[in-house]
Amino acid sequence: MHGTAPRPAAPGFSATVRELFLALGPQIHRAIAPACMPCEAADDVLRVLRACRAIELAMAGLYEALAEIHQRDPSMAALWRKTAREETNHAAQFSLLLEAIPETIQESALDAQALENLHQAVENTVEEYRLRSPSVREALVAAIDFEEAMDKTHAHQALVFSDPRCQRMLVAMMAADSGHITRLRAALHRVALSRP
Ligand SMILES: [Fe+2]
Ligand SMILES: [Fe+2]
Repeated sequence: MHGTAPRPAAPGFSATVRELFLALGPQIHRAIAPACMPCEAADDVLRVLRACRAIELAMAGLYEALAEIHQRDPSMAALWRKTAREETNHAAQFSLLLEAIPETIQESALDAQALENLHQAVENTVEEYRLRSPSVREALVAAIDFEEAMDKTHAHQALVFSDPRCQRMLVAMMAADSGHITRLRAALHRVALSRP
C-alpha cells in the first residue's frame, strides 16, 4: 500500500486521469496521513464516494442517451457527447479517490442515502428517456436539475481529505460540474430564443 511502485489502473479508469492526478504531486500511495478512521466512519465514506461515482456514471449514461436521441441536432448531440465524456472522467477520478481510502479521507458530512436517491433518479430518467424521446428543452431542464442537485451537496466542502491533492481533485471536479450548469443553461437560453 505504501510502496513506491506505481499501482495498476483501476478498472474503467483511464491512464490519462491517473497521469493527471499524479501530475498534481507525489504519488498518492506515499505521504498519507498516518491515522486510520474508525471502521464505521470509513464504511460511510466509502458509501458516499461510491454513490458519487455512481451519479457521475449515471450522468454520463444520461448524456450519452441524449446524444443518441438528439442525433439529428448536431450541436446538441455534440454538447451531450462532450458532457458525457467529462462525466466519465469524473467517475474515474472518484475511482482514484476510492483507491486512496481509507488513508486519505478525514471526514464526510454527506448524506449517502440522499446521494443514492439522486443516483436512482438519474437512472430512472435514463430509462424513461429511452422509452420516450424528450425534447431538447425538457432534457436540458432535467440535466440542469440533476447537475444542480449534485452541486448543492457541496461535496468539495463536505468531504475532507488529509491529502491536499485529493482535495484539489475534488474541487476541480465540482468546478467542472458547475461549468456544466453554465453550459447547459446557455444551451437552454439558445433553445428558448430559437424555438419559442
Ligand atoms: Fe461530474
Ligand atoms: Fe456534470
